[in-house]
Amino acid sequence: MTAAVVSPFHAQELEIQQRVGVREQMAGAAAFIRDYMPDQHREFFAELPFFFLGALDVSGQPWATMLAADPGFVSTPDARTLHINGGMLPGDPLTGQLHAGDHVGGLGLAPTTRRRNRVNGEVVAAHDGALRIAVTQSFGNCPQYIQHRQHTPVVPGTHAVQVLRSASLTAADRELIARADTFFIASANLAADAGRGRGVDVSHRGGRPGFVRVDDEHTLTAPEFVGNFFFNTMGNLLAHPRAGLLFIDFERGDMLHLAVEGEIIWDGPQLQAFAGAERLLRFHVREVVRNVGALPFRWTDPQPAMQLARTGNWSEADRTQAAASLTTSWRPFNVVDVVQESSDVRSFYFEPADGLGVAAHVPGQFVSLRVPDWAGDGAASQIRSYTISDAPDGRRYRISVKRQGLVSSWLHAHLAPGAQIELMGPGGDFTFEEGTQRPVVMLSAGIGITPMIAMLNGLLVNGSRTRHKHPIYFVHGAREVAHPFTVHLQTLAAGHNNLAVHVQQKRIDIKVLKELLPFDDYDFYLCGPAGFMQDMYEGLRQLNVADERIRFEAFGPASVRRSGAANAPAVSTATGPVPVRFVRSGIEATWDGSHGSLLELAEANGVAAPSGCRSGLCGSCAVGLEAGDVAYTRTCGSQPAAGQVLLCSTAPRAGASEIVLAL
Ligand SMILES: Cc1cc2nc3c(=O)[nH]c(=O)nc-3n(C[C@H](O)[C@H](O)[C@H](O)COP(=O)(O)OP(=O)(O)OC[C@H]3O[C@@H](n4cnc5c(N)ncnc54)[C@H](O)[C@@H]3O)c2cc1C
Ligand code: FES
Repeated sequence: MTAAVVSPFHAQELEIQQRVGVREQMAGAAAFIRDYMPDQHREFFAELPFFFLGALDVSGQPWATMLAADPGFVSTPDARTLHINGGMLPGDPLTGQLHAGDHVGGLGLAPTTRRRNRVNGEVVAAHDGALRIAVTQSFGNCPQYIQHRQHTPVVPGTHAVQVLRSASLTAADRELIARADTFFIASANLAADAGRGRGVDVSHRGGRPGFVRVDDEHTLTAPEFVGNFFFNTMGNLLAHPRAGLLFIDFERGDMLHLAVEGEIIWDGPQLQAFAGAERLLRFHVREVVRNVGALPFRWTDPQPAMQLARTGNWSEADRTQAAASLTTSWRPFNVVDVVQESSDVRSFYFEPADGLGVAAHVPGQFVSLRVPDWAGDGAASQIRSYTISDAPDGRRYRISVKRQGLVSSWLHAHLAPGAQIELMGPGGDFTFEEGTQRPVVMLSAGIGITPMIAMLNGLLVNGSRTRHKHPIYFVHGAREVAHPFTVHLQTLAAGHNNLAVHVQQKRIDIKVLKELLPFDDYDFYLCGPAGFMQDMYEGLRQLNVADERIRFEAFGPASVRRSGAANAPAVSTATGPVPVRFVRSGIEATWDGSHGSLLELAEANGVAAPSGCRSGLCGSCAVGLEAGDVAYTRTCGSQPAAGQVLLCSTAPRAGASEIVLAL
């Protein structure tokens, strides 16, 4: 008989795992949380000249701190016992606070190697600054977000130590936090029913300087990036919002301890604007202890952790938020890089040229691009839409363009680093369904690969809030063996065992899919030439795949005709004459049936009308309809807000007496 496995996670950790859709997978990860220290951890702890500790003071307030002494001060007489011999520095808020029966969280972290191991336990004896701890939880942490730093000991007696206490952050504290790239957080759940998850944790947090925002002298906000999915800290904060933060002045040797109350921010514009952030933590400061010059070390300048290249900071997030209101305006962007992806596909990287950030986007969305009015070759002022195939760091957009006709050829011929172009957006509804637990099939052909790559990066690389631990089948048809993103796909497949990539040099059809996919209940995402998409859609429907499980994007006017779709286009448009008033421009025109759409009528009459894809996809042409009745000329991918209509896809309805538009 097999013994039932007792979860090492408490109820609030499990609640968050459930909320983000990883609870099942984490049940397997439970095996990595041991109640003893492996030999490698024991050897590692014994080498450390400093060690991080989280514990509660006698009032129940958690504090995070760094202990420092000669290597060997942390030892492990056996695999279940941790011994800490001193190391607590004068003025530490935990001085004299630890007694037998108290829980502590420990963290060995070496910035020189980026190695870190966690060990939590219960104090069994506390004498003369020495702690004997019975280990309850021990596990390794990956090195991500840790900045490389080298420490140098300070000669004893050569550094002045001073302890400053206050109820709020001083100007010097705020300055230290604003430039910090690292902090530590101690949190606890000591509830009687917390089971094996009961205890204190101390965790490392790293980011680019400016990743912690000082909102005011009592409040901080910091991002949570993708981690190990245990959710120890967040789970503890849900159970018991009090926490302790530790910031270190690596140049001057100060320790800044904060007693805080933590609050989790699950969504909202600030979170969306912060590249790489999955959630935000807001900290309300209750008490501040600054231990000036306390640490017997100084550190070299950091070498930033590689993972941070794809994360933001608050000044960028603020600029991104400021840009959020400009998604329906043309903005200048500089071309900062051009990469040849295959014989006929080129990627262009753009950075805003107006001093603002890039507006946040959801992977799968696109931007519209307007060719400059001075361009030759007939391309002047032409507008096309291109998927954001990646947004590597929240500071740039990448589009990947196949050389085809007028505009794409012009872009290939003329866009080089240093050039400027106007973009509008992002927009579009072809995005990954957040929170789905179903396996996913991404089906693409030709340049239809771009939204799939964007979504894949969002799911696996960029630390999206939709991080997907369920199976992903990436199925692509490409004419050339060296198709765009070949190496990237191979790298992703090698690094993620939930991703299976199948690329073939002939068109993907239903027969191929049936061979590739185990029987399951999938979400399908389609993008490619119109014929490919229609065939795949119909084939999937014949296999009884529900209509709502099939999402697609068409790169042109010809979209998939859904079977039994409720929103079939109305074609009862007026042939004329119908007066059309553009109230904001003060222009009046007459619809006589000779224009394809209200957008074309507006443009023909000199009304500055926004547009992007001109095919009902991007939503750029949504405008308020103040009076009258319009008919849609096609099924649109974009849903305008209530009271708005898509100018590119509408005409006055037959019988309409007047149309009034808020333009
Ligand atoms: C939401 C959305 C996202 C998109 N994302 C991307 C993307 O990520 N990457 C991308 O490359 N495109 C993308 N497109 C398509 C893009 O907007 C343009 O339609 C495409 O670049 C063609 O524009 P063009 O001016 O070069 O061709 P046009 O001159 O407008 O010609 C249109 C079509 O005619 C045919 N054609 C014209 N000239 C030639 C020629 N010389 N040789 C062969 N065929 C020709 C092609 O089929 C071409 O697509 C997207 C479109 C939409 C609506
Ligand atoms: S221009 Fe894109 S929806 Fe109308």
